[in-house]
Amino acid sequence: MSAPKLVGIAGSFNRPSKTYSLVRTVADLASQRYGFANKVYDLHDVGVSLGAAQSRKDLDEQAKGVIDEIVSADVLIVGSPTFKGSYPGLFKHLIDLIDPHELRAKPIIITATGGGDRHALMVEHQLRPLFGFFMAHTLPTAVYASDRDFTDYKVSSEPLSHRINEVVGELAAFFPHSVTVLAAAE
Ligand SMILES: Cc1cc2nc3c(=O)[nH]c(=O)nc-3n(C[C@H](O)[C@H](O)[C@H](O)COP(=O)(O)O)c2cc1C
Repeated sequence: MSAPKLVGIAGSFNRPSKTYSLVRTVADLASQRYGFANKVYDLHDVGVSLGAAQSRKDLDEQAKGVIDEIVSADVLIVGSPTFKGSYPGLFKHLIDLIDPHELRAKPIIITATGGGDRHALMVEHQLRPLFGFFMAHTLPTAVYASDRDFTDYKVSSEPLSHRINEVVGELAAFFPHSVTVLAAAE
């Protein structure tokens, strides 16, 4: 049996990126704990055809490939930088090209980064309702990180690591078998 697939999508063009680093950290911990095969993408991986696409068929093969990965994931980690109190327009445009049924019932970990703490609730007020539209299972713990949670673009704060650990633990409700199998192998 092949390993369940975890896909991360970071809604940032920047490299290096705090959002990418956060998604990568969550993805690696979850994969270590549940045996997922994981891939993490950013908006560079989606490429420039996204901005001009009015529908999915206008995307080039590279961008279509990333969307195919997102919709075929067994578990998704979404990460967004905060722009003006919400997610960036281009990230929303990517999500707009996904059909309503394609994320239905998918477990999704929602994460975001911002410069400070003022918009920490954007995970609850912006990202959670967006994926609620798709009738996805957003996990109860959402992860928001600000500049001070990172050192050289790496997760470095104890409270953030604790929260990451918490949300990864919540995945056990969806993958109880993986936990049992990995524990038995240790
Ligand atoms: C156009 C723009 C708008 C921003 N608006 C906010 C904001 O409203 N609140 C906030 O906390 N940070 C804001 N920021 C800061 C970014 O959210 C923050 O630096 C983020 O971690 C960048 O992520 P990245 O390193 O993955 O690109 C903004 C940055 C830009 C470029």
